[in-house]
Amino acid sequence: MVSAEEFNVAEIRAALIGTRFARGLQHFASVDSTNARLLEAAASGAPEGTVFVADEQTSGRGRGGHTWHSTPGDGLYVSILTKPALPLRDALLISLATGLAAQRAIRECTGLTADIRWPNDLLLDGKKCVGILVETALERDQNAALRYAVIGVGININHPSFPEEIAPLATSLRLASGKPLQRSSLLIALLRALDHELMLLEDVSAPREKDLLTRFAEASTWARGKRVKVPEQGGYTGVTAGLNEHGFLLVASDDGVLRTVLSGGVRERE
Ligand code: BTN
Repeated sequence: MVSAEEFNVAEIRAALIGTRFARGLQHFASVDSTNARLLEAAASGAPEGTVFVADEQTSGRGRGGHTWHSTPGDGLYVSILTKPALPLRDALLISLATGLAAQRAIRECTGLTADIRWPNDLLLDGKKCVGILVETALERDQNAALRYAVIGVGININHPSFPEEIAPLATSLRLASGKPLQRSSLLIALLRALDHELMLLEDVSAPREKDLLTRFAEASTWARGKRVKVPEQGGYTGVTAGLNEHGFLLVASDDGVLRTVLSGGVRERE
């Protein structure tokens, strides 16, 4: 069902004045994937701050080759182009910063504080309500520097229910809060918060706030002291032990080794 709320692009742009996103927003009724479309636009020279948002995705991309459930009008399906001056080894920081921005946007719009499962799944009532997929391109001439990153964010907002296969794992803000929400309010709050996070990431001398890794560790119950299973290095279990300087999760594994987790898929071990 298409939601009654239509995106009013002019109003959203006006609400974003003062951020890098005020001019770059483009709306689509239906696309295969906002990430795929924005990666194409980026390769053709689209500028920093370009944002593609869609009412529906027919092939929404998730992490690890999964698809992202993108029914018309229910969710926020948005991709953001940024060109931060960061080395590739710090690309994960963009994901962590986006998770913090999404957490803040949800808190502003619903009063609910979502947990962040490292690196960037947001959970309410233990179920996923936000997925983030950052796709990057490298400089050709400069070793291991980021040329640009496309940040894809999917927020389950007004879904009344989910297909059987994901229902045990997924929730929406409406299901968690009991109230329908305006997608445009979430979009504005997300882009404002993300503009701030990206500014802090780029400005290494910005000392007014605690650094990203400290804030992430405070915002996520997964960063430290959580018993987990990790589907890497043949699979192992252990207890989370903070993040390293590039944002990778450390796990004290049950065999006594401190291991670094390189990709997602970390799950709670009962
Ligand atoms: C995940 O698997 O957790 C990441 C899901 C990311 C989904 C968003 S929706 C907007 C953007 N376009 C895509 O095709 N994927 C991302």
